[in-house]
Amino acid sequence: MTAHESPSSTQPSAAVPGQGGCPFRNAANIYEFGPAKAALQHDAAWQAGFFAESVRKDGVIKQLPVLYGHGPSQREMRRDTARFFTPTAVDQWTPRIDELVQGLIESARRPAGVLVDELSLKLAGAVVGDVVGVNMTNPKTLARIILAADQRADSEPLLIRSQRNRAKELLSFARLFPAWLLDINPLYKASKAHLAAGGEVRHLVDQLVAKDYSVIEALTEILTYASAGVLTTREFIALSFWKIWEDQALRARFVTSSLKERETILRELLRLNPVVSMLYRRIDADAELDGCPVAKGELIRIDVEAANRDPKIWPTHRHEVDLSRELPSGVKPEGLAFGAGPHQCPGGPLAIREAAVLLHELFSHSGLEVLSGPVWQRNEGIKGYEVRQLRIRIS
Ligand code: HEM
Repeated sequence: MTAHESPSSTQPSAAVPGQGGCPFRNAANIYEFGPAKAALQHDAAWQAGFFAESVRKDGVIKQLPVLYGHGPSQREMRRDTARFFTPTAVDQWTPRIDELVQGLIESARRPAGVLVDELSLKLAGAVVGDVVGVNMTNPKTLARIILAADQRADSEPLLIRSQRNRAKELLSFARLFPAWLLDINPLYKASKAHLAAGGEVRHLVDQLVAKDYSVIEALTEILTYASAGVLTTREFIALSFWKIWEDQALRARFVTSSLKERETILRELLRLNPVVSMLYRRIDADAELDGCPVAKGELIRIDVEAANRDPKIWPTHRHEVDLSRELPSGVKPEGLAFGAGPHQCPGGPLAIREAAVLLHELFSHSGLEVLSGPVWQRNEGIKGYEVRQLRIRIS
């Protein structure tokens, strides 16, 4: 992808529809939806993306963040935090999202306008900040957390031990220090005092303290939320803005749709343009996946972009937004863009709601104009696109 091409203006990286035989061999790339989902759901498949193998190997962190963990303790952590993400919880967050959007939209009225990814970053930061318990509406805090979470190294498992990447990893650790010192450490102490005084668990930080996470372990979990929840949502909202802006009919439909319909449009856009385009798993015991034998130690790469356009699942208009689809049971409108199985994204519905509210507000203004951009970049840490320099103004 060049700097000026949007993700879905290129074809999926390697669509091999209907490839025969057993696909799980020799660091195999999986392009089909069925085997991809089976791999993500399998008990023997460990997280191998987002630097998980390198963190596990270093052994510094005993209680691994939920994204890196495996087995009963990981499932327990998911159960403990599930209440932040239920459909009722998402509805309860909505007035807060509305309020944040009303504040943010004002910046688009300035003569110089505003960058869409700046709006989406502030919104996503504030929402994840509420879930986590870190005040990310403070621009300095948001900047420090993002600086620490935004890994610039390549998270491809076969590359992460290379010299260049190792240097970048060490630099990332150094970047943690300001966030640890100024944000997380004081918060952690305050949470300990709150719980010791008999207070209830209010957010993720309280949950981590209640579970005896050390401050470093808590920092790692918080940064997981920041990269999993803030960086992704930032890009997804900016991309969706551009896709809807470009397509006049879709824009008209989006503005007049109900919240539910808008969310369906956004899920289709996410299917076509997954922010995390590649997921990785390492098989830790000889296993059978989707009817195929897989040897212990195999690395599996799931090409989400290709799996989400698998003609077996999306036989018609698979490269287009189509709101009249009937999907087979077990297939979500966004395909595997939020993953599947034990690591499936808990925050997906929240991200979709944020996008639906912010974009509806923006597109409802007839004086909305695009002043410049976008410029497309890649973030190899999360294996996704970045939408930059998309400047808009409401006049
Ligand atoms: C459009 C926005 C988002 C996208 C595309 C996205 C995508 C994903 C994907 C693909 C995974 C699974 C990774 C894997 O299987 O290897 C994941 C996991 C996760 N996401 Fe999201 N996410 C988004 C928003 C959010 C939000 C808003 C939050 C929090 C408020 C969040 C929190 C998490 C967490 C904690 C995990 C790890 C879950 C686990 O391993 O058990 N995400 N996300």
